[in-house]
Amino acid sequence: MPRTVIEPFRIKSVEPIRWTTREQREHLLRDAHYNLFLLPAEDVLIDLLTDSGTGAMSTSQWAAIMEGDESYAGSKSYDRFRESIQDIFGYRHVIPTHQGRAAERILFNVMCKKGDVVPNNTHFDTTRANVEFVGAEAVDLLLPEGKQPGLVRPFKGDMDVEALEALVARVGRKKIPLVMLTVTNNSGGGQPVSMANIRLVSGVCRHHRIPLYFDACRFAENAYFIKLREKGYEDKSPKQIAREMFAYGDGCTMSAKKDGMANIGGFLCTNHDQLAQQEKDLLILTEGYPTYGGLAGRDLEAIAVGVQEALVEDYLRYRIASTAYLGNHIAQQGVPIVQPPGGHAIYLDARAFLPHIPPNQFPGAALAAELYLEGGIRSVEIGTLMFGAAAKMDLVRLAIPRRVYTQSHVDYVVEVILEVFQKRDRIQGMKLTYEAPFLRHFTARLEPVEHPVLSH
Ligand SMILES: Cc1ncc(COP(=O)(O)O)c(C=O)c1O
Repeated sequence: MPRTVIEPFRIKSVEPIRWTTREQREHLLRDAHYNLFLLPAEDVLIDLLTDSGTGAMSTSQWAAIMEGDESYAGSKSYDRFRESIQDIFGYRHVIPTHQGRAAERILFNVMCKKGDVVPNNTHFDTTRANVEFVGAEAVDLLLPEGKQPGLVRPFKGDMDVEALEALVARVGRKKIPLVMLTVTNNSGGGQPVSMANIRLVSGVCRHHRIPLYFDACRFAENAYFIKLREKGYEDKSPKQIAREMFAYGDGCTMSAKKDGMANIGGFLCTNHDQLAQQEKDLLILTEGYPTYGGLAGRDLEAIAVGVQEALVEDYLRYRIASTAYLGNHIAQQGVPIVQPPGGHAIYLDARAFLPHIPPNQFPGAALAAELYLEGGIRSVEIGTLMFGAAAKMDLVRLAIPRRVYTQSHVDYVVEVILEVFQKRDRIQGMKLTYEAPFLRHFTARLEPVEHPVLSH
C-alpha cells in the first residue's frame, strides 16, 4: 500500500480564503490590539484558532439535514439522533443540548453541591468553570508524565490512579459525586487516555460506588490512538474501542462541535433514570424540550451522521496523520512542541521558542501575533494571558479544523512557522493595555513592549 496518507474525500464546495499583505496585517494586528480574537475572520488566511464547530460537513450530513423534522415534540430527527448515539455510547438516556458547556452546566447542577470535589484528568476551562459555579472544587489528577511537554509517551492523558485513591481516602467518597475523564485531554496537549487507565479508574469508581463520566468531545480520536498504541486493540475497529471505553462509565457530556463533526450541538448521557429526569427538567428551563434541547431538527440529523463518520477508519488515519505531519515537520527543524503530536492540535512551547521573553511579557501572545504577521495564520495563546500567573506553560495552540485544510495548507503553515523560528530573536514581548476582570484573553488589548516599526 502506498505510504502517502491522502485526504479521504474530494472537494465539492469551496470557500475562498483571502490574502492580505504584510503591511495590511501590521495595521490589522494593531487595530485588533495584538489579540487575534479581535481580528475579523475574513482577514485570516489559515484559521487554526479552534477545531470546535469549524469542521466541514459531508454530503451525507447535508443530505440528512434535508430530512430534519422540526416538530417541537417527538421529532423523528431526535429518534435518529438518539439511536445513532446509543449505538456508539450505549447509555440509556440521551439529552440534546446546544453545545458541550450546556451539558456540563446541567450535569453539575444536578449532581454536585457546595463543598463537593470533582476529579478529572484535566478539566477543560468550561468544565472547571461549571464545577466551580455550583461551589464544588475541580481537581486535576493528570499523571506527572502528562505535564512534561517534551516527553514522548503514548498516553499522556492518563489519570493518576494512585492520586485518585488518595483523594477518595482524604475527602471521603460522599464528597465526590462523580469522577470525569476527558478524552482526549484538550488542555494537556490533546493527549489520549489508554483503555488500561480507563479500566483502572472505572475499577476505583465502582469500588467506591462513585459514577464515572466521560468528557467525550474527542472520543473518536482517543479510540484511534488506542488502536494505534495499545496492545490488544490493533485489530479492533474504532467503534468497538469506543463502545468498550463508554461501557466502563455511567454517562458523558459531549460537544458535538468536535468529534460530532457538526457546527453546533452537544449532548448529555446517563444510565441513571432519576438523574435523567432531573436533567430533563432543567433542560426545559433553559435549553428546550427534551427531543430538541436547543437544537434544530436539522442539527440533530447532522450530529446523528457525524458521530458515525468520526469513527470511519480512513478518516481517522488521515486526521491523526495530518496533525502529526504538521508537528513532526516543525519539530524536526528544532521547533519546540508538546510531544507527541496530539489528535486535534499542535502546541508550540512558546517559553522554549522565545526564551528571551519572560512569562509576564506573554511569549505565547507574542508568538501568535508573529505567526499572523508573517503568514496570516490565526492560533491561540494558552498560557499567561489566559491563566495569569497560575500558568505552568506558555503554549500556542494550532488547532486543526476537521476536513477543512489540505496538505498544501499545512505545508504553508510549516513554512511560516519555520520562517518565524529563524528570526525568533527579533520578536518582542507584549504588555497589557486593557484587561477584563475574568476570561481576559478573549478581549485583552496588548502592545509590544517597544512600539513596532510600521512599514508606512
Ligand atoms: C475537552 C472539552 N470539554 C468541553 C468543551 C466545551 O464544549 P463547547 O465549546 O461545545 O461548549 C470543550 C470545547 O472546546 C472541550 O475541548
